[in-house]
Amino acid sequence: VTNKGTGTLSLEGRDLVSMRDYSRDDLLAILDEAQRFEGRDEPLLAGKVLGSLFFEPSTRTNLSFASAMQRLGGSMIGFADSKVSSTAKGESLVDTIRVVENYCDIILIRHPLEGAARLAAECTTRPVVNAGDGTNQHPTQTLLDLYTIRQRRGRLDNLKIAFIGDLKYSRTVHSLIETLTHFDNEIFLVSPQSLRIPPEFIEELDARGTVYSEDEDFFSIAPDVDILYTTRIQQERFPDPVEYEKVKNAYRIDREAIERIGGDVTLMHPLPRLAEISRDLDDHPGAAYFDQARNGVTVRKAVLCMLLGVSHD
Ligand code: CP
Repeated sequence: VTNKGTGTLSLEGRDLVSMRDYSRDDLLAILDEAQRFEGRDEPLLAGKVLGSLFFEPSTRTNLSFASAMQRLGGSMIGFADSKVSSTAKGESLVDTIRVVENYCDIILIRHPLEGAARLAAECTTRPVVNAGDGTNQHPTQTLLDLYTIRQRRGRLDNLKIAFIGDLKYSRTVHSLIETLTHFDNEIFLVSPQSLRIPPEFIEELDARGTVYSEDEDFFSIAPDVDILYTTRIQQERFPDPVEYEKVKNAYRIDREAIERIGGDVTLMHPLPRLAEISRDLDDHPGAAYFDQARNGVTVRKAVLCMLLGVSHD
């Protein structure tokens, strides 16, 4: 495995709100620490409590954080549906955080509004982890994506990486593309015109000298592509349902499409998926999307321990 971190690095007390706040050394240190958690459950977080506040639906992020916490001897409180919290009575996010910080050691928040996790972090001395804020960022998804890429390809540099689908609203794409600018890769951006990646990401790719191309055609991707990172077209993000209907079936990647691309390709998707990745690919040797979901527990164990200042030794 290349792209190893440079050793243990203290992240105690820090928030994980945006990948922009984390250097290449920081994220490599988290990936290395996660590797040390592979297959190891120890009561390192005994007595620690995670306060988990989900204002949007989740399966993977919510349950993998719960699993990580419990496997390390800690516990989780919170809600998976804000309708059962006092938010439904009109309580503000700021007041919610100021209350919940008394009940836990670290706070996890998913919210539909961009910037909500940053606001939460500004209201508390507890570390805050962003579990996804609108279309903005999903940092722990990025970390588990990088972990999976390194696991599958043995490196984080010198790769051809294609992003396909909703590049406009996908926070997993936004977080990962920004983070990949720390590495030297070639990026292919494939989307319908109406779902192109926002200009600020193009400016960042340009500023960092990353080689990239944009196209609508799936088959514009280089035949020796290493990673295909497909995303769901997210109906819930579209202000106009008519616009969703126009693009909802823009891509459907199946065995035939992968065989046409050829080569040794790793298939990634943050999940949940709809029809954009055919189930006939689930037993393809390159299919890594369920690995990503599994790696979420390993990576989140490392994140929780590092932000809480707890180590193996
Ligand atoms: N990938 C991801 O964030 O999945 P959930 O929405 O189920 O948490």
